[in-house]
Amino acid sequence: MTVPPNNSFSSKPKNGRVLVAGATGFIGHFVAEASLAYGRPTYVLVRPPPLSPSKVSTIKALEDEGAIVVHGLVNDREGMEKILKENEIDIVISAVGGEKVADQFALVEAMKNVGTIKRFLPSEFGHDVDRSDPVEPGLNMYKVKREVRRRIEESGVPYTYICCNSIASWPYYDNNHPAEVVPPLDQFQIYGDGSVKAYFVAGIDIGKLTMKCVDDVRTLNKNVHFRPSCNLYNMNELASLWEKKIGRTLPRVTITETDLLAAAAENRIPQSVVASFTHDIFIKGCQVNFSIDRPTDVDVGTLYPEETFKTLDECFTEFLLKIEDHHPVDKNSTNTPMLEPLPITTSCA
Ligand SMILES: NC(=O)c1ccc[n+]([C@@H]2O[C@H](COP(=O)([O-])OP(=O)(O)OC[C@H]3O[C@@H](n4cnc5c(N)ncnc54)[C@H](OP(=O)(O)O)[C@@H]3O)[C@@H](O)[C@H]2O)c1
Repeated sequence: MTVPPNNSFSSKPKNGRVLVAGATGFIGHFVAEASLAYGRPTYVLVRPPPLSPSKVSTIKALEDEGAIVVHGLVNDREGMEKILKENEIDIVISAVGGEKVADQFALVEAMKNVGTIKRFLPSEFGHDVDRSDPVEPGLNMYKVKREVRRRIEESGVPYTYICCNSIASWPYYDNNHPAEVVPPLDQFQIYGDGSVKAYFVAGIDIGKLTMKCVDDVRTLNKNVHFRPSCNLYNMNELASLWEKKIGRTLPRVTITETDLLAAAAENRIPQSVVASFTHDIFIKGCQVNFSIDRPTDVDVGTLYPEETFKTLDECFTEFLLKIEDHHPVDKNSTNTPMLEPLPITTSCA
């Protein structure tokens, strides 16, 4: 995972103690890294031991950058009240995994009881769940995320919902962390006719821009939408971009709407959840079929015009370099990616 060096986003440390729940996870790690990079006092909530060796090294790396570890569970109301009070936490960001979003009900209660939390960002980091209606089993996760929203709104705890759309990567329909997998080298699976567009955002930008929002008055009780125009791609365009990187064309296989619905109906968790979201994004167009025009909507690009997004082109270059690092290839073979260095294009604003 590419992370910025400590304090790389801003030379001016910001006050406001941040607690990140889920910092050892995929999205939460980007958020915790960004919080540290901005020089904020950053507390990371870690589940009580025993921890796997990989989690131990993730936590150690965060501690080395200045994170303060507190042990606890978001679904333990009393424990969370104690943690929030004792550490005088101002901002809580939750990035618990999709199957654990209901754990946040206890956290919302704890924040309400403590009464001093200035902002809560629940585990969203995807679509605007009040506006999209995937088929099951994705819908069930959205129902819980919607219920978390309603409890927050009733609690009076100030909040921000981060709707960052898709993580920048090849959107495998059965993998919920596709940014950890390189794009295909054998064939492309194209959803439907491949013409429906989606927004792709690099994890580092999700972290960086989330942390910009946490005490911005303009994001108070708002849905913040990430829609970088430079990273708006359909499947056909995504495939062409990757073909340019690897220097050859790949066969394209169509995954029909029926195929995606069948994968969702298998009800394998998490693969079927991802299949239902893939259907929602690339068949129904859930990221592009509404305007962000409600009083509760804000566009992150309008809020922070000075910030640039890492382009999908850059992300795909990094994937290519990753392949080359791990699999030195035969330059004479027609079946291998090109090896000459590719220029990294500038980020889009
Ligand atoms: N936009 C996208 O493309 C995209 C992609 C993936 C996820 N998401 C969304 O991002 C959010 C985070 O998902 P993720 O995939 O990053 O999650 P993840 O990798 O599964 O990580 C979940 C984190 O939450 C922690 N956790 C779980 N239950 C907890 C509890 N009760 N108390 C304290 N910590 C707890 C886990 O701790 P352990 O390390 O101990 O397990 C882990 O650190 C979800 O809302 C998901 O829907 C969006």
